[in-house]
Amino acid sequence: MTAVLQFADVTVRRGQATLLDSVNWTVNSDERWVVLGPNGAGKTTLMQVAASQVHPTAGVAGILDEVLGAVDVFDLRPRIGLTSAAIAERIPRAELVRDVVVSASYGVLGRWREEYDGFDHDRAAALMTEVGVEALADRTFGTLSEGERKRVQVARALMTDPELLLLDEPAAGLDLGGREDLVSTLSVLAQAPEAPAMVLVSHHVEEIPPGFTHALLLRAGKVVAAGPLSAVLTEANLAQTFGMPMVLDHVDGRWSARKRTGRHSG
Ligand SMILES: Nc1ncnc2c1ncn2[C@@H]1O[C@H](COP(=O)(O)OP(=O)(O)OP(=O)(O)O)[C@@H](O)[C@H]1O
Ligand SMILES: [Mg+2]
Repeated sequence: MTAVLQFADVTVRRGQATLLDSVNWTVNSDERWVVLGPNGAGKTTLMQVAASQVHPTAGVAGILDEVLGAVDVFDLRPRIGLTSAAIAERIPRAELVRDVVVSASYGVLGRWREEYDGFDHDRAAALMTEVGVEALADRTFGTLSEGERKRVQVARALMTDPELLLLDEPAAGLDLGGREDLVSTLSVLAQAPEAPAMVLVSHHVEEIPPGFTHALLLRAGKVVAAGPLSAVLTEANLAQTFGMPMVLDHVDGRWSARKRTGRHSG
């Protein structure tokens, strides 16, 4: 077991705003983390630091045994898989799904005269099967539904066989069935011993896939709590994170939360 992320007092400021405020966080290679917090809490900023795309204003971000600022990020980035709305927007709508996935092996968006060898195509095909989009391989990305696009992005993020997989709100915009399908896929991935360390950003405890082990709760750039799921996911911590009293349930490996009203006691 090795640490894939080791953040010490990581702070990110933009003008007067403090986006991340002295974040201390360690992610080990066998852990699967969910990052929860309200809009504007700093979750995407945290993922951007973890993906070596944003450097801390202060503090030290250790990523895969390297220190951000002292390593060529172009060596680091292929070792990290990232999905986010910002990346999805940059995928050409006319690109074939199979090329969206396979082109990740060259760190490019949009296939343009690169030559991919058979190994890459085999791997892309296996990953598309793993996330359930193999039947869409010859469609263009622009014709896919939102949920199908999310799955293709997960396959693309896995293409380079990353040591760290960062998923920024992969379930956003999905309907109930689509969300449940994605949660199942991520649950299988989370429990695969050979899978990379994973960090999943979400707004909803309902989206935590069984097999995830740890949680970090973020509010206004500060860590409210971080550690094993069972210790961190409490009604008191959720109330502090989301700013309202909460009722939290954990049934059959799945979590659910709602606002505590007068009808609940205790
Ligand atoms: N360049 C900037 N200057 C000032 N504030 C910024 C800048 N970039 C981001 N912010 C602010 O930093 C805060 C954190 O943004 P971030 O995108 O990390 O939040 P988030 O937790 O991902 O939110 P969401 O759940 O809405 O995706 C937000 O309040 C955002 O408006
Ligand atoms: Mg965000």
